Amino acid sequence: MFKESFEGAAEEVVAFELGRLLGLNVPYTEAIRGADGQVQAALMRWVPGACLNAVIEGIDRNCQRDGREVRSPGGSLEAWFGRPEVRDQYIRDRILSAILGDHDRRDMNYMVTPDGRLVAIDHGAAEPFEENLAAVEAKMRDRLANPRSRTLDRRMQVRPEDVEALWGRVGSQLTDGALDRIVANFPPADRARILETWKRRIALLPRVMRDVLAAP
Ligand SMILES: Nc1ncnc2c1ncn2[C@@H]1O[C@H](COP(=O)(O)OP(=O)(O)OP(=O)(O)O)[C@@H](O)[C@H]1O
Ligand SMILES: [Mg+2]
Repeated sequence: MFKESFEGAAEEVVAFELGRLLGLNVPYTEAIRGADGQVQAALMRWVPGACLNAVIEGIDRNCQRDGREVRSPGGSLEAWFGRPEVRDQYIRDRILSAILGDHDRRDMNYMVTPDGRLVAIDHGAAEPFEENLAAVEAKMRDRLANPRSRTLDRRMQVRPEDVEALWGRVGSQLTDGALDRIVANFPPADRARILETWKRRIALLPRVMRDVLAAP
């Protein structure tokens, strides 16, 4: 089953493609393009399970699934939060959202599958096409220094140095060739500009991470 997405379709496509390079679980997403080559909609794989907020509350109120009881996969919520692979995925999503300037990484924008995997959904607030580097840097700093998901950060015990360490392992996946293949989703006239902003963001990220770590 797939989900149709119209608003934020191009953003969802970019988040899927970049997220996949970073080893993040993002549901398979495919662009639907018009005759002009612009992304008009996206088809996204439907993820089984429940949103993370529903798992935390024990009740699923998302998407008209009103009042359905939800159990934590494999026992207690604390045990689930303690799974290394869950935390690892959460940090990968932080890296993706720092690159994309996506501030909307609340618990309702993660799914938990019946076997307990964390899946990042709803990257509609991402800004992959912003070209103003100062604006990009401000958002990157904000995502790294001031996450909007402090409760989740605490429960996952995520610190800026953990994000930097994981970046050290996955950053090299974002090669020029891989980025080239992703911009092929967009009209030829736009590709060079899009590629430029992504390369600048990737070059900027290590410095912003160091600044955040050095901050008191
Ligand atoms: N790929 C998916 N698989 C399963 N469920 C999904 C998927 N995408 C979205 N959903 C469900 O639909 C809800 C709304 O989708 P999404 O978050 O993408 O849109 P939204 O417009 O941002 O809505 P909201 O304002 O509630 O965040 C999600 O919270 C989730 O319950
Ligand atoms: Mg959402």
